Amino acid sequence: MLILVIGQGAREHAITHTLLLDPNIEVVCAPGNPGIAQIAKIAPVDVNEISSVVDLAKTHKPDLVVIGPEAPLVAGLADELRSAGFLVFGPSKAAAALEGSKSFAKEIMQAAGVPTADSKYCQSVPEAKAALELFGSPYVVKDDGLAAGKGVVVTDDFDMAVAHAMACIDSRDGGAVVIEEFLDGPEVSLFGVSDGTTIVPLTPAQDFKRVGDNDAGPNTGGMGAYSPLPWAPKNFVTEVTKTVLQPMIAEMNRRGTPFVGLLFAGLAVTSRGVRVIEFNARFGDPETQVVLARLNSSLSELLVAAATGKLSSLPALDWKPDSAVTVVMAAKGYPESPSLGAVISGINHAQELGSLVYHAGTKTNDDGELLVNGGRVLSVTALGSDLAVARSQAYSGVERIRFDGEHHRSDIALKAALGEIRLGDHN
Ligand code: AMP
Ligand code: GLY
Repeated sequence: MLILVIGQGAREHAITHTLLLDPNIEVVCAPGNPGIAQIAKIAPVDVNEISSVVDLAKTHKPDLVVIGPEAPLVAGLADELRSAGFLVFGPSKAAAALEGSKSFAKEIMQAAGVPTADSKYCQSVPEAKAALELFGSPYVVKDDGLAAGKGVVVTDDFDMAVAHAMACIDSRDGGAVVIEEFLDGPEVSLFGVSDGTTIVPLTPAQDFKRVGDNDAGPNTGGMGAYSPLPWAPKNFVTEVTKTVLQPMIAEMNRRGTPFVGLLFAGLAVTSRGVRVIEFNARFGDPETQVVLARLNSSLSELLVAAATGKLSSLPALDWKPDSAVTVVMAAKGYPESPSLGAVISGINHAQELGSLVYHAGTKTNDDGELLVNGGRVLSVTALGSDLAVARSQAYSGVERIRFDGEHHRSDIALKAALGEIRLGDHN
């Protein structure tokens, strides 16, 4: 079976790696990256040019297309591929709006009775100021459109909150912000694979959004992750599936825009119960690296069952008892202004130690050297008998890899491994 994976990050590297554990699967990844090129065919394409991706699919005739990133989903790539006759894992444009528009996601949550932060949609600065005063500090200001994980500012500084609101409102015609109440409590990422009617939860993970240790500095796309969550409440996945994932899928179905693909719930486990922070319409990065590391069942069978509407007859998923940790190695200046071009060395040594080294922002030059080519450069992933073992294994891998200006967090999964996360703490 041939699967076309669309995207070029560590997430797509992890998806490709996991699909290829099944000897009956072949993968073409477009555009891929140098790490993916070592295990699968890659094909150059701009994932945001929908017609080029459809042409590529016509050339390769895959049995399934798996779409990684949000931008092509929100732009309608899945619809175009389906109209051309391909089986697709990824939501339609209408369903991907759950990620593409924060205000649309709020509307669906309200209709479905899904618990989330109280919020106000603001299209002018005076409206935004009034909403900030209403909810009080800490202030939470979100760009209404797609912003690659960087459209949200959480701050105690009123002027900074207003400045971000102004920047988002002025950034484009129809610019708007969503301002909402602050949610305390640790965050959880829970993925559900949906065929439009049935949704199957995967194992939960925790992401580290801020660039620095102890959650210092600005938000990023994600600096590391771990799974499972030893501190999560009992029956957490079952409860969230019942109160969040299934109602969302039912409401999307009721509206005639079924969600077929991966629904990613970003949750806060607050002192008042679980609340949704946001939805994404795709696999999370770096959570996918740890979630898939723990999956024993066949990933291709799961994705095909979703794409063909057959999830209700799929056997229950099987998970490894091991823990998984991934640490993102970032370029100098990330997230503000990553500097590119540094030479990367030592990946082989990290792999010899047993780490899975997933590529994100890398490229090779004419001399065959591997260079930094993006903000998040590598995602070093390891399994272990518990979180402490998985952490030390992942960090041993990180220590073997070098490039100028490299930085990473040193506290990924630390509190969880030490048993120091209590419900009511923020991370
Ligand atoms: P989002 O893009 O909506 O996931 O927001 C990015 C990050 O901002 C989240 O992972 C949280 O760390 C933080 N955040 C977003 N909304 C809230 C909220 N209402 N209360 C507290 N933190 C939030
Ligand atoms: N790690 C969060 C995301 O993929 O959006």
